[in-house]
Amino acid sequence: MRILITGGAGFLGSHLSDAFIARGDEVFVLDTGAIGKVRHLLEQPRFHYIHDTIFNLELLDSLAARVDLIYHLAAVVGVEHYVADPYETLNVNVNGTQNVLKAAYKYGKKVVFSSTSEVYGRNPKVPWKEDDDRVLGATTIDRWCYSTSKAVGEHFCFAYHKLGLPVTVVRYFNVYGPRLDKVDVGRLFTIFMGQLLRGADLTVIGDGSQTRCFTYVTDAVAATVAAGLNPAADGHAINIGVDVETSVLEFAHLMLELNGPTKSRIRFVTQEEVYGKSYEDIPRRVPDNTKMRTLLGIEPKVSLRDGTALAMKWFREEANS
Ligand SMILES: NC(=O)c1ccc[n+]([C@@H]2O[C@H](COP(=O)([O-])OP(=O)(O)OC[C@H]3O[C@@H](n4cnc5c(N)ncnc54)[C@H](O)[C@@H]3O)[C@@H](O)[C@H]2O)c1
Repeated sequence: MRILITGGAGFLGSHLSDAFIARGDEVFVLDTGAIGKVRHLLEQPRFHYIHDTIFNLELLDSLAARVDLIYHLAAVVGVEHYVADPYETLNVNVNGTQNVLKAAYKYGKKVVFSSTSEVYGRNPKVPWKEDDDRVLGATTIDRWCYSTSKAVGEHFCFAYHKLGLPVTVVRYFNVYGPRLDKVDVGRLFTIFMGQLLRGADLTVIGDGSQTRCFTYVTDAVAATVAAGLNPAADGHAINIGVDVETSVLEFAHLMLELNGPTKSRIRFVTQEEVYGKSYEDIPRRVPDNTKMRTLLGIEPKVSLRDGTALAMKWFREEANS
């Protein structure tokens, strides 16, 4: 098969590229970002890296015509980015998504859209089923623009599905693993990892009782591949995640333990110190992953302890290379 992955040079996209290359497929990555995460694939004749944007409509059209299946992962991701640049977040995640869907619709190519657990906002009733309510804050608070942008993307997906396009929406829950963000920035794992590598304290926001459901990247990718290949997933939104809750404080302790002897300790900080006034964390995010297990036939295989050890090993080797 020929697969287009927008945002394919990012964290998840690079692992998804690995999975399709391993299956023997041909992969086209369209990404504005750095090449680092897919450098290992460049020698592979079935891998094509196109350094361009989903706003290049002619290119998007020609790629949609050539491939059999489209994964749309390109997005502005990460709290620091969407709080700093709401315009770019909304533009890429809403208008860019429309560009991808329009091109796919022209040629009748299935799209898998990568959405997020953030769409549920701060709905206090967990675990979240795919058709549960979205509970969000005011539009005057930039923090909600990412959640809203992805939800609008989802609405476009379902609208195109009504027009006859096969579309599946996957909602990821805290995926982590090798090649996540740069250390010290991005998501919780890489922030703690950067602190551990420097021997600095691990900064836990609030009292650390807020939870995450960490999902190792190979489990998330297995579900993502299945979502693209299984026609039973068409027209569905599917939570992709492990349903085991871990508090941020427990996760900090686990990383300290797996790291071995270190000067790093845990330091509690306020949310405002880290993200400023307009950010609001979600206390609990838990997927009901019944659909992932029954519709896609995917059972997560990697425990948090094993996955964290694997990811830490990778980041340590990177830092020493
Ligand atoms: N990793 C997670 O836990 C998680 C959770 C929820 C949702 N997601 C979603 O999964 C997708 C991939 O996330 P990720 O963690 O790999 O993030 P990432 O930032 O590593 O990947 C996103 C990629 O999109 C690219 N991109 C941005 N604007 C673009 C444009 N205009 N044209 C082409 N490419 C562009 C970036 O260069 C980047 O490589 C995103 O859509 C994200 O919203 C991820």
